[in-house]
Amino acid sequence: MAEIVGAIATSHIPAIGKAIAEGRQNEPYWKPFFDGYARPREWLAAMKPDVAVIVYNDHGLNFFLDKMPTFAVGAAATYSNADEGWGLPVLDAFDGDADLSWHLIENLVADEFDVVSCQKMLVDHGFVVPMALLWPGGGPWPVKTIPVSVNTVQHPLPSPGRCYRLGQAVGRAIESYPKDLRVVVLGTGGLSHQLDGTRAGFINKEFDRLCLRQIVSDPEALARLSVHDLMEQAGAQGVEFLNWIAMRGALHGAVTQLSCTYHVPISNTAGAVLLLENRKQAQRRVA
Ligand code: DHB
Ligand code: FE
Repeated sequence: MAEIVGAIATSHIPAIGKAIAEGRQNEPYWKPFFDGYARPREWLAAMKPDVAVIVYNDHGLNFFLDKMPTFAVGAAATYSNADEGWGLPVLDAFDGDADLSWHLIENLVADEFDVVSCQKMLVDHGFVVPMALLWPGGGPWPVKTIPVSVNTVQHPLPSPGRCYRLGQAVGRAIESYPKDLRVVVLGTGGLSHQLDGTRAGFINKEFDRLCLRQIVSDPEALARLSVHDLMEQAGAQGVEFLNWIAMRGALHGAVTQLSCTYHVPISNTAGAVLLLENRKQAQRRVA
């Protein structure tokens, strides 16, 4: 049976992709941030997952405001990146696992999550920057990928509770897949940031620290927040934390935190990376 070995939550800020492309990782501005990825990379090298299920948000490359699915799951054999206008190099395409994708989609719909299935899907910085951070060197990528996109862009957004339960359904679906695959779940985006409006530049370190604690030990407290609580506390784009909440739902009730780093600011955002391992003996909570 497929097994979820753990999860990594990480920022996906485009400036990180630019720093990687320009080899700036050891510059004083970037070093403390990139140092946080040493442990997750080491863990991935040891765990050798076969598949990464990546919960992220598209920012207008694949979905635009004219058609905005609340939840969408990739079901393609490959996913291409494309130029979004951030000046980032277009990265090598990512292999999918269409068979596992359809298993997820079938189980999610049976669980009343009526996701959009995407047999063609471009993946943007929300997906590719974490891949470039976690598997440096670019393609060919050593894992197959399944994009799970959450609308964090156009209101109404799904609630934290709904995203947590989606993650739980994703977790149950993965663990009911009959092939012996090792799966890592990624959640991307955040932490607090607001890119526009009168609060542009807003960062809330106190709330971020609370999120970093509760995502490990009490995700259900986060799942009880409203989207408006999250916007108020984390900023209009800080709602990307919904992706982290969904990622956490896919893990078991009890997890082990192997590393966590938080660094402010990266571009306009509080940067963070968190590595969690699933405890094998821990029970999956019933949704
Ligand atoms: C930034 C952060 C994001 O999450 C994003 O999608 C784009 C830009 C930033 O801080 O620059
Ligand atoms: Fe973003």
